[in-house]
Amino acid sequence: MFAASRIQTRAFSASARQLTKVSVLGAAGGIGQPLSLLLKLNPRVSELALYDIRGAPGVGADLSHINTKSTVKGYEPTASGLADALKGSEIVLIPAGVPRKPGMTRDDLFNTNASIVRDLAKACAESCPEANILVISNPVNSTVPIVSEIFKKAGVYNPKRLFGVTTLDVVRASRFVSEIKGTDPKDENITVVGGHSGVTIVPLFSQSKHPELSKNEQLIHRVQFGGDEVVKAKDGAGSATLSMAMAGARMAESLLRAAQGEKGVIEPTFVDSPLYKDQGIDFFASKVELGPNGVEKIYPVGPVDEVEQKLLDACLVDLKKNIQKGKDFVAANP
Ligand code: NAI
Repeated sequence: MFAASRIQTRAFSASARQLTKVSVLGAAGGIGQPLSLLLKLNPRVSELALYDIRGAPGVGADLSHINTKSTVKGYEPTASGLADALKGSEIVLIPAGVPRKPGMTRDDLFNTNASIVRDLAKACAESCPEANILVISNPVNSTVPIVSEIFKKAGVYNPKRLFGVTTLDVVRASRFVSEIKGTDPKDENITVVGGHSGVTIVPLFSQSKHPELSKNEQLIHRVQFGGDEVVKAKDGAGSATLSMAMAGARMAESLLRAAQGEKGVIEPTFVDSPLYKDQGIDFFASKVELGPNGVEKIYPVGPVDEVEQKLLDACLVDLKKNIQKGKDFVAANP
């Protein structure tokens, strides 16, 4: 009896492991397409649901010919298409919205992207209130608070399930350091805290294998404004898409690993965080251990040197305003 029930539990968890629906909202865009491709290649994903205001069925049909086991479907741009794309989803990635053009800051995107994210958040709150929501649409510092306000209004907010994707900052920091040091980037784990735009991005090199790099102003600037290099090089055709797709897929993979029982999965990400709440800052990116319930443990910033303390001080000023802007938007445009 005991053995039988154990076998049953195992069988259940094995099949549960194979049933993971992941949805991408904005799936036909510059990020959405390569992100969906990487998710199609991920054996932990069993069902991939693609939604966009245009083009998702085409992207879905294309990806569905790839010979991995998961099913893929691109949904029609209707309210019921969106609801169907979301129902039963474990992870929802949101790269919907407009990207930057040269000369724009991420905050310049606010007017367009705030309402897009608000409306998609409403659909998530209704169709998959328990999913992990991974917000890629910029400005992340404001769009994440928008999602949280919408979920609160719907009475389904779970702070452990909402993530602003800042993985690209970590990916860039690791790559840039490896270029300077001639090392393998996989051995360069650089903690990046704060938010996801300009001076709110704070790399903590003093905690890395190369503490002296915290004095390297050029490197710090490159991590904070690395996105601008891509925007400039693309010359009006958008911002980072391929590297962002990789970063988004890594974040999703980390969540799936943690959901499937792996311990010690840590990613820096922008979450509802206690670290600076006493200063009125409700969201902050720091190292977060992931688990089956989403956020398992939020690590403190840890020791920083004098230079980094100044960066942090500047970060907190901007971050507070960015977060408030998201909250105010929902209050004024419910
Ligand atoms: P894109 O313009 O190529 O694609 C955006 C897609 O969203 C389009 O296919 C569009 O049809 C779709 N879309 C627009 N409104 C929608 C709605 N209401 N519902 C569903 N889909 C909708 O832009 P790209 O390059 O893919 O960038 C997307 C967002 O990601 C931008 O806001 C950009 O700033 C941000 N981003 C974030 C990064 C991060 O590190 N978190 C890095 C790079 C970009």
